[in-house]
Amino acid sequence: MSDRRAVGFFDSGVGGLTVLREVIRRLPNESTIYIGDNARAPYGPRTDEEVKRFSAECLDELASRDVKAIVVACNTSSAVALPDLRLRYNMPLLGVVRPGATAAALATRNRRVGVIGTAATIRSHAYFQAIKEEDPFVEVIEHATPDLVPLVEAGRLEGPLVEDVVRRSIAPITDSDCDPDTLLLGCTHYPLLASIFRDIVGPDVAVIDTATATASALAHLLEMHDLNAPAGEPAQHVQLTTGDVAAFEVIAERLFGTDFTQVERVAVAGAA
Ligand code: DGL
Repeated sequence: MSDRRAVGFFDSGVGGLTVLREVIRRLPNESTIYIGDNARAPYGPRTDEEVKRFSAECLDELASRDVKAIVVACNTSSAVALPDLRLRYNMPLLGVVRPGATAAALATRNRRVGVIGTAATIRSHAYFQAIKEEDPFVEVIEHATPDLVPLVEAGRLEGPLVEDVVRRSIAPITDSDCDPDTLLLGCTHYPLLASIFRDIVGPDVAVIDTATATASALAHLLEMHDLNAPAGEPAQHVQLTTGDVAAFEVIAERLFGTDFTQVERVAVAGAA
C-alpha cells in the first residue's frame, strides 16, 4: 500500500524549512505542502491562546488540501498547541518536541541536558516533560534565547557579532553548575547556527537539532500508517505563506539557497 498525497508542514515562518529540508533529504519520494504563517510571526513572544488559534487556522488550510499527515515543524506550536491540534484532525500529526526530546535523552551520558527555545516554548516546559518521560533521571535545564530568531531572520548566520550573541544567550546553560553534556536546539531557526553552537560548547557536548530527529520520526510514522509515497514518481513541493511572497523568497533563499522559491500567498482565516 502507498499514498501519493502530500505531507503537510506548518511553521510560524521560514524556520520550519530546516525540518522540510531534512525530510526531503531523507524521504525523497514524499510530496510536501509547507505553510508559513509569516503574517503573524514570530510566535515566540505570543500568548498560548494566540499560538493555539493561529496554529489551528494554518492546519485547517493544510487539512483542506487533503494532506495525509501533518508535521508541526514549529517548536513553539508543538510545545503549546499540539494536544489541542491532535483533537481537531483525524490524521497523524507529528510535532518536533517528542523527537527532539528522545534524541537528547539518548545522547546524554551524564544525564544532564540543556534546552533552549523561544519564550513560549520554554514557558510551556514541554521539552522538560518530554525528556523526563523518556528518562526521569535526566536533569533538564531550560533557558529562553529570544535574541537568536531575529538574528537568523536578518540573515546573520556567522561572524563575531553572531558568535557573541549566541555565547551570551546560552551562558546561563554553559556556565551553570548543571554542566550538561547535551544541548537541545528547541527552535526551528537554531540549526542554522549549529556550527556556532558546536564551536562554543566544544566537542564534549552533543548538539541535538530537532529537524534531523523529526525527519526520522516522520519516516517511522509514515511506515507505521502505511502512508509512504510510491517510489519512482517525482515528488512535488509547494510552499504557502500568509505573508508577503517576495519577502518569504528572499529570506528562504538567503538561509537555504534557491531550493524553496515556488511560493504562493494564502489567506487563512484570521490572517487574511
Ligand atoms: N518557529 C518558531 C519555533 O520553532 C521560531 C520562530 C517564532 O518565534 O515564531 O519556536
